[in-house]
Amino acid sequence: MNILLTGGAGFIGSAVTRQLIARGPGTPGAPHAPGTSDVNVSVLDKLTYAGNLASLKAVAASPRFSFIKADICDAAALREAFARVRPDIVMHLAAESHVDRSIDAPGDFVETNLVGTYRLLEAARAHFAGLSGEARARFRFHHISTDEVFGALGPEGHFTEDTAYAPHSPYSASKAGSDHLVRAWGDTFGLPVIVSNCSNNYGPCQFPEKLIPLMILNALEGKPLPVYGKGENVRDWIHVDDHAEGLIAVATRGRPGQTYLLGGNAERRNIDVVNAICKIMDRLVPGGAPHARLITYVTDRPGHDFRYAIDCSHIGRELGWRPRETFESGLEKTVRWYLDNRPWWEAVRSGQYRGERLGLAPKQGPEPRPELELGE
Ligand SMILES: NC(=O)c1ccc[n+]([C@@H]2O[C@H](COP(=O)([O-])OP(=O)(O)OC[C@H]3O[C@@H](n4cnc5c(N)ncnc54)[C@H](O)[C@@H]3O)[C@@H](O)[C@H]2O)c1
Repeated sequence: MNILLTGGAGFIGSAVTRQLIARGPGTPGAPHAPGTSDVNVSVLDKLTYAGNLASLKAVAASPRFSFIKADICDAAALREAFARVRPDIVMHLAAESHVDRSIDAPGDFVETNLVGTYRLLEAARAHFAGLSGEARARFRFHHISTDEVFGALGPEGHFTEDTAYAPHSPYSASKAGSDHLVRAWGDTFGLPVIVSNCSNNYGPCQFPEKLIPLMILNALEGKPLPVYGKGENVRDWIHVDDHAEGLIAVATRGRPGQTYLLGGNAERRNIDVVNAICKIMDRLVPGGAPHARLITYVTDRPGHDFRYAIDCSHIGRELGWRPRETFESGLEKTVRWYLDNRPWWEAVRSGQYRGERLGLAPKQGPEPRPELELGE
């Protein structure tokens, strides 16, 4: 089986790739994707600021892994990639993914998330048209999306596969649009599409502009821990390896035309996440304790959704997937990973991004201190 995986040099795509390549027959802890040891994975990635080949180091030597540097907006490059890879499954993760950047530069999000998804769908449609028999029956286009397309919840309730779309940020609006395009290519052209929407991920190799790695690294460096508003916004956190396992189940066993919601069953207020990181840091890096003294409340993000929460019973019933990591153990593992993998994040931080705050609309007033930044 050949998988063409877009965005595989990013946080989640690299976790999926590592899992697909690492698994052999009978690998413990891989009950959801039997047979994936036969899989070849071709990662297609533009290597934007968020793409990092170091995250694919563990699989780079595998004969089942290959890398194509290309932009999903480039129709000719996509045609060539489909001809070369002959994919049975497309897993589409390439995207601009940071809400704060979408407030500063929404055009990049429209370009990659909407136009890029459209180009990829057209390339997949042309490829699918040339398939017959078994290969045609096997083909899937799996689009990976976010729970942010559903907008904000109040204190109660959960998103389900039937929740109406109500995106608020340029990021979530562009992802919502891409979900609609994918379903339209299924309904109109018969492309066997599947969409999955997931809650906030955390874990190794996450770009340190996102909440959890940013807090870990700022705490380590004795910098302020910027918390938006009062820190009361609630997110449902899932460990990236649980998400990756769910994505493999969806791509290999999900039904075309279906939507699957994935979440971690771990709702936490942002301030509770930051305090939990501080407690772990106090134990692991006692010299900097108490790290909670670094917590700084900053101007809220414009249009900041109050709460997201996922009901993932549908995928549990249909594919037998459920998240396995608890938030407490997953968070500790993640803190340890950043402490043990300094070269990975030092290389990232010495590049274009240096931890500055992004995503304040101009009307929000004067520029905040440069070290203040937080996102998801
Ligand atoms: N991170 C989360 O918590 C989360 C939650 C739910 C869904 N998602 C979705 O999962 C997917 C992956 O998210 P992530 O956190 O790994 O993102 P990421 O920003 O870490 O990685 C995105 C990857 O896409 C690549 N890319 C960007 N534009 C491209 C283009 N035009 N052509 C080819 N490659 C391009 C980047 O180089 C990078 O490797 C996204 O579609 C995102 O919307 C993320």
